[in-house]
Amino acid sequence: MRLKVCFIFSPAQHSSCTAFFRMEPTLRSLTLLLLLAISNAAIQAPSNCPWDDPELEKWSDHTTWPTGQIPQEDTEVFIPKGKKVVLDTQIPRLLHVTINGTLVWGNVDGIRMETSFLLVNGEFHIGSEECNFEKTADIFLYGKSNSVEVVPVFGRKFIGAASGSTLEIHGKQKKSWTKLVATLSPVRPGRCGLIYDSSVS
Ligand SMILES: *[C@@H]1O[C@H](CO)[C@@H](O)[C@H](O)[C@H]1NC(C)=O
Repeated sequence: MRLKVCFIFSPAQHSSCTAFFRMEPTLRSLTLLLLLAISNAAIQAPSNCPWDDPELEKWSDHTTWPTGQIPQEDTEVFIPKGKKVVLDTQIPRLLHVTINGTLVWGNVDGIRMETSFLLVNGEFHIGSEECNFEKTADIFLYGKSNSVEVVPVFGRKFIGAASGSTLEIHGKQKKSWTKLVATLSPVRPGRCGLIYDSSVS
């Protein structure tokens, strides 16, 4: 498959540009199919968002934690196997986080997790393939080279997914397509043939 792209700025419209592709006919129909597939996907409402799982227990609820207290500053957080927790609130700086059960990032804007490491033996989800996380999430790893225990294989400062674990991070979709705004004329050798509207958002 050959694809040649050239960008030409038109003197009249500085903000827009026109791209010319020289493409095989098969590629042209492939592109159309791809555009159709993507627009169908966009029409479907998000479903199966990880934070909607009814089995989730809230981080902010003290009954979620074996100590009866939500994790305080500089404490170790451990989520045991079989437990599913949703991070639904701002949290203080933690010493470290180990997930043997499931941790789901809540659909809340601007949560910042500060920890020296985050070790996933079970499952950690921020959004999913069908339901992207569209807000801002921060994970800030801090600490000095001698600040906490060394975790074999991973070290001291890391986001680590152990073998057999699940780490899913799905953010906002970036646009990977554009819109055709004119009919394509048959492409002759040496001529370019695709016009798109760069202002499509
Ligand atoms: C957490 O899971 C890891 C890996 O399966 C295991 O080695 C470890 O013992 C578990 N931790 C606890 C406290 O159950």
